[in-house]
Amino acid sequence: MTVVSPAPASPPIGDFQLDDRQRAIMSRLKVVTMFVTNVCNARCETCFYWMHLNDPDTNNLTVDEIRQLGLSMPDFDHLLVSGGEPVMRKELPEIVRVWRETCNIKSVDMPTNGLLTKRIVEVVEQMLDENPGMMVTVGHSLDGFKETHDRLRGVPNNFEKTIQTIEALVEVRQRREEAFRRGKGPQPFLRLLVLACVNNQNIDEIERLAEWVSDAHDIDGMMFECLRGEPKDPELLPPTPEQFDRVIQTSMRINDKTMRRRFPEQRPERLAYIRSVYRLQRSHITKGKLPSTCQAGHNLAVLEPDGRLRLCELLDVVGDVREAGLSFPKVWFSEEAERQRNWIRDCRCSCTHCVNLGHSIREGAQINLQRRIDEAMFRLT
Ligand SMILES: C[S@@+](CC[C@H](N)C(=O)[O-])C[C@H]1O[C@@H](n2cnc3c(N)ncnc32)[C@H](O)[C@@H]1O
Ligand code: SF4
Ligand code: SF4
Repeated sequence: MTVVSPAPASPPIGDFQLDDRQRAIMSRLKVVTMFVTNVCNARCETCFYWMHLNDPDTNNLTVDEIRQLGLSMPDFDHLLVSGGEPVMRKELPEIVRVWRETCNIKSVDMPTNGLLTKRIVEVVEQMLDENPGMMVTVGHSLDGFKETHDRLRGVPNNFEKTIQTIEALVEVRQRREEAFRRGKGPQPFLRLLVLACVNNQNIDEIERLAEWVSDAHDIDGMMFECLRGEPKDPELLPPTPEQFDRVIQTSMRINDKTMRRRFPEQRPERLAYIRSVYRLQRSHITKGKLPSTCQAGHNLAVLEPDGRLRLCELLDVVGDVREAGLSFPKVWFSEEAERQRNWIRDCRCSCTHCVNLGHSIREGAQINLQRRIDEAMFRLT
């Protein structure tokens, strides 16, 4: 008779005992999106988050609470901060430091409306100074040339201010790269992107905008995302498949150009990654489904400013980490989270959410590609 010794019990996380399946799911967490604030100084017609903005009753998780939550979580690679306007959260650099200390994050991505140039520069410099070796990516949202951008964003002169922010950060990057070359400072891992939300009101100019901004400013790349969710202006629509195909081609050409300029050695891996994100978006637009199951709820978690947790930012809340005593696993494996995780798998949920799609390809057949891209990201010389 063969005696099979029982598998060793998993060590508990706080007072939560994980079984093997749960432990396997936890170990796949790669990306956390944290809405650090719902305060915003713009009024975008496109915004999918507009109904949550500027709610004076929001009780944000404190830095100490975030630390306690982080201690209940596995290490993960990428923190995406969102909002609201992320830099309007006073403690943003401290929050990033806490995630670095508790979960060993390798990179932080921050989209910004670019309105508060001085504050954005200050936050980025502090994040770089306090977290050597961590990649900081700033995505400047730009939805059109001046007239269209200012109208869609509801802020006069938003266009000029965003360009001013790009220029200020290009200077920061140049100064730090120069210091590194002279042996006077650590290697700066700062990437500057432009993000455009493509819709029926900017489709006729968005490609020209992308060409212009990538020629006039020393950015590292440009990403287009289709309008999604429920924008404030219900007349706004996503592009048609034909329009999006055109935009994809333009984006690939521009990213090819910026990468030849900025990262010639890593160009093939980086372009392959961008191409696969667009392939996924296109699959949703043309066929209404993704070629493989979305990984939200496995490799991706989304945290609201007040501690409510989602598997993906487009799906319902599955629980509240504060009510769960700041235990991530208690909410991650709540009945509602398990039900939604199964629903994503069984219904083959599909969308064009660029960030989520990008991280979905970190799984399965594409994992080697992603690993090569990650390695390339940290070779900036
Ligand atoms: C919600 S914003 C938060 C960060 C910051 N306030 C900003 O605007 O960059 C994050 C990103 O989502 C984009 N976005 C907003 N509404 C969108 C929508 N309905 N579909 C796709 N992207 C959208 C914004 O342009 C921005 O690049
Ligand atoms: S897209 Fe960003 S800047 Fe615009 S309203 Fe939404 S959160 Fe604010
Ligand atoms: S397909 Fe889109 S909406 Fe569905 S779970 Fe994934 S990211 Fe969320």
